[in-house]
Order: sequence, then structure tokens, then C-alpha cells
Amino acid sequence: MHVPVLLNEVIKTFDPQSNENFIDATLGEAGHTLCLLQKTDPSGRVLGIDLDAETLRIAEEKLRAYHNRVILVKNNFKNLESIVDEYKFKKVSGILFDLGMSSRELEESGRGFSFRKNEPLLMNFGEDALVTAEQIVNNWPADDLKGIFEEYGEERFSRQIAEKIVVSRQTKPIKTTFDLVEVIQSAVPQKYQSGRLHPATRVFQALRITVNDELNNLRSGLEAGLKILESGGKIIVISFHSLEDRIVKNFFRDHKASLKIITKKPVIPARVEILNNPRARSAKLRATQKL
Ligand SMILES: C[S@@+](CC[C@H](N)C(=O)[O-])C[C@H]1O[C@@H](n2cnc3c(N)ncnc32)[C@H](O)[C@@H]1O
Repeated sequence: MHVPVLLNEVIKTFDPQSNENFIDATLGEAGHTLCLLQKTDPSGRVLGIDLDAETLRIAEEKLRAYHNRVILVKNNFKNLESIVDEYKFKKVSGILFDLGMSSRELEESGRGFSFRKNEPLLMNFGEDALVTAEQIVNNWPADDLKGIFEEYGEERFSRQIAEKIVVSRQTKPIKTTFDLVEVIQSAVPQKYQSGRLHPATRVFQALRITVNDELNNLRSGLEAGLKILESGGKIIVISFHSLEDRIVKNFFRDHKASLKIITKKPVIPARVEILNNPRARSAKLRATQKL
């Protein structure tokens, strides 16, 4: 089961009141949404969005008791404006973006998010992704692979890994996560393999970001969020790596004429939360309020 990250901090920051409406742009298994529904009793509503059909099914089950106060939508949060229009969801007091993937997607989706399981190299959140990780590693030129590993993975050995992929795929296509891990391991120095991070971590991150166009989605989602939010409403973003956090920080700064920044520094989980939920270890929460 996915354990919601920074739940207390999200609730403290939104400070939800009876009958207020919220958008959970990354519904997942509805951990945050469930709490928002409890706090906005008796008539507050939540519009929950996720790209992943199986995740939405699990969330729907969990939210059964609140079915008349939730709207669940399978869509990309980059389309927030049109979703809100379609469902006539008005008076939005807060929007939450809890980025990345859920524990279930990582562990059980069978879509190749984890380098610890041998699965097909897909890495898409929704079925409408334009490309799979397998297509990228088997078709893109070395320079383009190096580019995404560098830009989206901040990977030190981008060139070596990209070149090794191009050589390997000539003899055998790279079909699964373990095929890719093997190529990465053969491309990086021995010392890198015994470091704190698994040597495939950054390449997997880069591929996932590319397949799902995650950084552009975040930029579009934030822009749309700001437009549809009530004055006084809040946006909270929980990010899991520096590229996302930088986009959020810059977005808040670039819109400072219409926003008040609530978190001068990002809020991070307490040690006890990290001990109970290791997935929380790299989480950073930033929040802002529309003037
Ligand atoms: C970290 S999980 C959210 C967990 C949730 N807050 C909870 O406590 O159960 C992120 C979710 O966002 C979804 N997601 C990622 N990018 C998305 C996008 N652009 N639009 C909609 N959903 C997205 C993923 O499928 C995943 O279910």
C-alpha cells in the first residue's frame, strides 16, 4: 500500500474547512484525498486526477463512502483547466501535486519502473504516453540518449552509458529492465557500482521523465492551477528530485506578483517519517497562496 508522504504538513498547510473544495492532481491511492474529505465534511468536494487506470480503480474502492463528494478523472494534470471546465468544478481552495509514482506503480505495475524487478521497459503512467522506454533505448542516437541521461538524470557517466547502449543493442535489443541494468553496469566504473545509489537509478529516472514528459506536465499543471484557484487558495507541490523542485521554486518566484510564498524553504519529512516510509526520504514540499 502507498503511504502518503508529508500528510500532516499538507493538511496543516491547506487548513481545510467544512465544505471547501480541493483538487488532488495526483490522486494515487487517495491517501491525501481521504484526509481532505474527512476535514471538509459534510459537503466539501475533491476532484481527483490520475493517469493510471488501475490506481483510479483502487482509489475509487477506498473512497466508496464518499462517492457523492468525489469526482475521479483519468487524465493528465497538465489539462487541469479543461478538466475543471468539463466537470464544472468551481471554488477551488487548494490543489495538491504529489509528484512521481506511487509505491504500487513502482512495485506492482509490471511497467518497468524498478531496476530491482525484471519487467518490460515501458515506464508509462498512462496508456497515452507517446513513447516507451524500450523504444527510446533501442532507437535513439547516442547523443540524444546522453542528452536525457545528463539533463533528466544528472548522470555522471551519461556518455559512457549511451555509447554502451548503442553498441549492445546491435547484437541484442534491450527489452527488459534487467537487460538495461546489465548494460549500465558494464558501462560504469566498478567503484560507481558500490556507491550509495544503484548505478541504474539516474538513467531510470531520466527515462521515466522522458516517457511521461514529466517536467513539461509540471510546468503546465502549475500554470493551469494558478488560473483556476480561488483568490486565497493554495497550491502545494511535493517533489522528489532537484529538477522538479527547481521548476516549482522558479514558478513561485516568476509569479510573485500574484502569489505569496508560504514555504520560504522547502519542508522536508521528519526523521521518524523517513524511518517509517523510506520513500519519503527525498520529498520536498513547497506551498504558495494566490493573492
Ligand atoms: C506519488 S503518487 C500520489 C500518491 C497519493 N498522493 C497518495 O497519497 O496515495 C503520484 C500519482 O500521480 C500520478 N501521475 C503522475 N503524473 C501524472 C500526471 N501528469 N497527471 C495525472 N496523474 C499523474 C501517478 O500515476 C501516481 O498515481
